[in-house]
Amino acid sequence: MKPPFTGSQLEERLSTLARAFFEKAERERRWSVFEDLPWGAALTAPPHELAHVVETFFVLEASAPSFAGRSLEAMRCSPALTSFVTSWNFDKGKRLAAFREWLVRAGGRSHAELSQLELEALAAPLSLRGLEGLVSASRRLVFFGCLQEMVAFVTYAKHREVARREQDECLRTLYDFLARDDIAHARFLQQALALHLEQDREGTLADMAGVLSDFTLPGRTVLSDWETRMQAIRGPGLDLQTFIQRVYVPVLKHLGVGRHEILRRRTAPPEHDGAADG
Ligand SMILES: [Fe+2]
Repeated sequence: MKPPFTGSQLEERLSTLARAFFEKAERERRWSVFEDLPWGAALTAPPHELAHVVETFFVLEASAPSFAGRSLEAMRCSPALTSFVTSWNFDKGKRLAAFREWLVRAGGRSHAELSQLELEALAAPLSLRGLEGLVSASRRLVFFGCLQEMVAFVTYAKHREVARREQDECLRTLYDFLARDDIAHARFLQQALALHLEQDREGTLADMAGVLSDFTLPGRTVLSDWETRMQAIRGPGLDLQTFIQRVYVPVLKHLGVGRHEILRRRTAPPEHDGAADG
């Protein structure tokens, strides 16, 4: 079947989407680490668990440039997607600065300790199994991003409630900004993937199934004590059931894709050339 639009028309549509994303971010979403967070309302002696979770978020965000670098490489075929990744990476840098500030002011960490953690996060090998050598790596990354950004949104929204209970208004506000940024990232990627589905449904569905079968989360290689730290992150009710109900199902629904369409391809992934990347 003839696709409804060509690869270059796909890029035009992505470009319109990226422009709208950037304009909305500039007009409605930007926040300042130093002006908009109520630093005076941060706890002076927060519970150990609260600070430990912030430190884990700090390390995970610190690994973002490695992931952004690989994504930019894979997305060179799309100026619209590379502009999104650049903007996304800026948001990551800002939250890293905010977490650092909180960890030094409230969490009892030193700048030197945090710089060391940052270095280790950047030096960790980045495993992107399921992407190497794929023509359609860009499209797979867009779907991976859809899921990952929704996971981040749900996670920060849950931890916003923890910060509220602990009465750290500064951390609560920070988590609120992060959840808002992540849902904006998720929406952009979902809209981008919807365009890919429109242009090449079969190839895109195969890539989505491939991501669910092969992909490993980059964070696993960044943290040696990943499992223990993730237990603390998932503590406030972020189990597999939550992932399915609040991430996987809403993302597929938003894309107009049935779960059976993915399941069918996961058992017997079809050969495809990932033509929509061009
Ligand atoms: Fe995000």
